[in-house]
Amino acid sequence: MSDPNAGKRAAARAAADLIQDGTIVGFGTGSTFQFVLERLAERMQGGLKVTGVATSRATTDAATLLGIPLRTLDEIDRLDLAIDGADEVDPQKNLIKGGGGAHVRERIVAAAAKELVVIVDESKLVPVLGKAFLLPVEVLPFGWKQTEKRVAATGCVPRLRERDGAPFVTDNGNWVLDCKYDGIDDPAWLDDHLDGLVGVVDHGLFVGMAGRVIVGDTAGKTRVLP
Ligand code: A5P
Repeated sequence: MSDPNAGKRAAARAAADLIQDGTIVGFGTGSTFQFVLERLAERMQGGLKVTGVATSRATTDAATLLGIPLRTLDEIDRLDLAIDGADEVDPQKNLIKGGGGAHVRERIVAAAAKELVVIVDESKLVPVLGKAFLLPVEVLPFGWKQTEKRVAATGCVPRLRERDGAPFVTDNGNWVLDCKYDGIDDPAWLDDHLDGLVGVVDHGLFVGMAGRVIVGDTAGKTRVLP
């Protein structure tokens, strides 16, 4: 039977193999990034020294379990590389992220890096962002219904993310609106516009932030988007 994770694993391993000895790397969040950690643990057994800056509690826990050392972003001046997954990637390498609710920290870590290397399988490649995937927007719980109205006015139907019948709470103590757009035709406009809304902490639209995008296919082969 074919491995449903072959593409994710291949992209993740290719990215993990870019990491040079003695470097400090931004560690993303999600099922694809988990394969980076596993590959790094293997490489560390072969002598590689690497330190990560984690974008979530989940990644902190996973790296710690594998014995991969971590530092906080505030202990670091600049990162050479950050590696992370994505939920959708368009032909201009704009991204939707935040399926796991970690997009605010992911953006902060990516912005501190010289390059954000994105790792995806082919299922994440789309012609237009936001036709299938809901755009996550992190909001302050205080007055969230007012914020929701402002977000809806950008042309979407927002829905409060829930877990076990209660609002999903991010690592930052905030809530997430998952927003249904009928395709995001102008990601740069929406990026700017959402950033300016009162009550919005940040959102999962990453415009012009991706460096190399490594795509893994079902046969376990990889290619890098031009
Ligand atoms: C976490 O909030 C997200 O931005 C993830 O990076 C993204 O959802 C990709 O996740 P998977 O690798 O699990 O698909």
